[in-house]
Amino acid sequence: MLALTNWKLAISLCIIAAVYVRPGSCGAYTREIVNDKPPLQERPAWLKTCKRSNPNEDKCFRQLFEGCFPALAAGIPEIGVKSFEPLNIDQVSVSKGSGNLVLSGGFQNLVIRGPSNATVRRASLDLERRLLSFELVLPRLRIRAKYNLKGNILLLPLIGNGDVAMALKNVHTTVYTRISLRNETRTGDEIIHIDEMKVSFEVGAMRIHLKNLFNGNDILAASINTFLNQNGNEVIAELRPDLELGLADIFHGLWNNVFSKMPTKLWLV
Ligand SMILES: *[C@@H]1O[C@H](CO)[C@@H](O)[C@H](O)[C@H]1NC(C)=O
Ligand SMILES: *[C@@H]1O[C@H](CO)[C@@H](O)[C@H](O)[C@H]1NC(C)=O
Repeated sequence: MLALTNWKLAISLCIIAAVYVRPGSCGAYTREIVNDKPPLQERPAWLKTCKRSNPNEDKCFRQLFEGCFPALAAGIPEIGVKSFEPLNIDQVSVSKGSGNLVLSGGFQNLVIRGPSNATVRRASLDLERRLLSFELVLPRLRIRAKYNLKGNILLLPLIGNGDVAMALKNVHTTVYTRISLRNETRTGDEIIHIDEMKVSFEVGAMRIHLKNLFNGNDILAASINTFLNQNGNEVIAELRPDLELGLADIFHGLWNNVFSKMPTKLWLV
């Protein structure tokens, strides 16, 4: 245990997180979501309008963006946008590691509760420079999933599969995107398309509990769980670059699916 808690930043690892989303729930987030529903043709009550000449005036775009959240959380079946409360993610794969941490396997059937409580700290749309960015604060995310992991932490083997519960507090996400204006294929309506996305995040605190490690050997399981909880921020820091890529994959597809169904004629006036 002493060695474990001293381990801290002595991790050197390379984790590749690949994220796939259950096709039935939200489509393949890694690429474009296939959604053949027609775009909105009338402006729903929850969709505010902003000036095309300056969408950010008086924080208009921020309010517009935040105003969409309750509808997105509930889902908008008529345009093929699934509920994101809870957010279902099919799989997060973890493969490869080196040094003191070696892990392979991943998490399946993730159910993430709390995204609908996001507050939009900042959001801006720059049509001239083709940039759209936003910052979200998620006070609390509760994640339930199945896990299947095999590897080593220091000299301890880590092996198991079963249920995992995770809680993340004060998740602060910043998303920068490069956009283009496109014509929706069927209606010809102008829509925003996200071409590139970069996500970064900070986590205030993490709790994690992996059940059924080592086929139920409680003593070994307790030391791994204790270690992961005591070193949560360091573990996240090591995984951050790859998790950020994984999240960008998810959000890229998710937001394109939304924007492609919201012609700019409805909200940029
Ligand atoms: C949203 O926040 C409220 C107040 O903190 C909380 O009661 C509720 O459970 C949260 N919703 C979700 C889905 O986490
Ligand atoms: C979209 O359609 C308009 C005319 O309806 C056309 O002028 C414009 O070039 C098209 N834009 C793209 C990106 O194809």
